[in-house]
Amino acid sequence: MQDLQRTLEEIFQDMHRHPETAKEEFRTTGLVRDFLSTHGIRILDLPLPTGVLAQVGTGRGPVIALRADMDALPVQEATGLPYASEVPGKMHACGHDFHTSSLLGAAALLKEKEAQLKGTVRLIFQPGEEINYGALAILQTGMLEDVLEYFGLHTDPNIEAGTLGIRENAIMASPDWFGIRIEGKGGHGAQPQNCIDPVPCMASMILALQQVVSRRISPFSACVLSVTRVSAGNTWNVIPGTAEMEGTIRTLSDEDRNLGEELIRQTADSVAKAYGCTANVEYTRNSRPLINHPRLAEFATKTAQGMGIPVIRQEPSMIGEDFAEYLKDRPGCFVRVGTGIGPALHHPQFTVDPSILSRTASFLAVLAERRLSEMAE
Ligand code: NI
Repeated sequence: MQDLQRTLEEIFQDMHRHPETAKEEFRTTGLVRDFLSTHGIRILDLPLPTGVLAQVGTGRGPVIALRADMDALPVQEATGLPYASEVPGKMHACGHDFHTSSLLGAAALLKEKEAQLKGTVRLIFQPGEEINYGALAILQTGMLEDVLEYFGLHTDPNIEAGTLGIRENAIMASPDWFGIRIEGKGGHGAQPQNCIDPVPCMASMILALQQVVSRRISPFSACVLSVTRVSAGNTWNVIPGTAEMEGTIRTLSDEDRNLGEELIRQTADSVAKAYGCTANVEYTRNSRPLINHPRLAEFATKTAQGMGIPVIRQEPSMIGEDFAEYLKDRPGCFVRVGTGIGPALHHPQFTVDPSILSRTASFLAVLAERRLSEMAE
């Protein structure tokens, strides 16, 4: 175990020094493949430029998957760590280096017990989580069709290092994007009567949008709607012809997600009409709300507790996570791993306590092994 911890810390620090952002995880892909090959683990032929799919076990069913993501963020690191990023403007500020190292450790541990496994564990080293690319890209290869259940984890700087956060049902949100372009009629700043000014229309629209959450969506549903960028005009004495804004809406269920989109469209359209403008709404659905299966959340909790790992009840988060895509048609559980209380995910000073790498790897390995045994019964 001591050896595993040392090996995982080395690989974690190597990844941390060399962060690669979404779809460019070539070096990381190489590191993962090398580690798996060294340990005699079967690598599958994933037809994507980055990312790795591997498996341990009998090669037959039941098949369950463990998933880690690999990509870094376009953030300039400011941790001062001895193994800080050597790539200007890029950083593992979301702990994906920790996820990948933990899954490599789990792979090695599962390989040692391969003969005793009651099925197959598919290992997903996923690229491009931060841009909502990797989960769908791997699913679309069809190489996960035999997977019955999925497990994954994410670092959490709000939890003490070594404690897990687990919760059943909705735990993360759909981080959807919307953009609204308001068409009016521009002209002289002194002659509004000859124009259709889109600026007051935009101001009203922002306030009306804020009431979608407070007045139209159930108070028992979590929902966030933020207008995060607005723009109109380029000087002081001209009424602009158009105004635009963009933002995000986040919900924890498909029903609220559908309702939210409908209400944004309806609100933009109605407010624009009241001002004599027209509104063009674009809406992009990113990853789905992440819903943990209650039985698997309970299984993960009991497994951790059986290993002496403390578990707290995880608070839901309105951040998005594309692990949710794997759970569209299959049950699964996404676990938070406390990595020491500190700056938030995506913050330039975000750090992870690497001393819990081997323990996290063991948790994943035991979880998969026990779950396969349970499924085989
Ligand atoms: Ni992340």
